Amino acid sequence: MAEITQAEKAHLRELAAAAAGRSYSPYSKFRVGAALLLETGEVVTGCNVENCSYRLTSCAEQGAIARAVAELGPQIRLRAVAVANLNAAASMPCGACRQTLSEFGDDSTLILYPGEGGSEEETTLGALLPHAFRAEFIQ
Ligand code: THU
Repeated sequence: MAEITQAEKAHLRELAAAAAGRSYSPYSKFRVGAALLLETGEVVTGCNVENCSYRLTSCAEQGAIARAVAELGPQIRLRAVAVANLNAAASMPCGACRQTLSEFGDDSTLILYPGEGGSEEETTLGALLPHAFRAEFIQ
């Protein structure tokens, strides 16, 4: 599969930031968005949705995955994921989201995220979640 171009990466980051603008985060005020680039070329976004119980909060990445499966089906595969926040803070996927992304991605799935000071960072899912617990272990 062809490399993801810089323009495609920038576009994915923009879509994640736009999704962050729709975040429901009245408690943390930490507005997060995620944009999934699928192997089919389709893009699906999500944002964090908080809850007054706190523990029922859904992260942006989890929301995007749930939406992608609901709209496109269980066969979705991740090529890249962009995460953005509107707080000018660093935000890479949390531990739980790394596992959620791992279900539909692999070690080479590209992760685009903001570093401290707003730098544009990138890494892979394999680097963020080494030795992931995988579906094949329970089959
Ligand atoms: N959050 C995400 O949406 N994604 C992450 O990977 C980390 C955290 C959200 C959850 C909560 O609404 C807010 O950021 C502060 O933790």
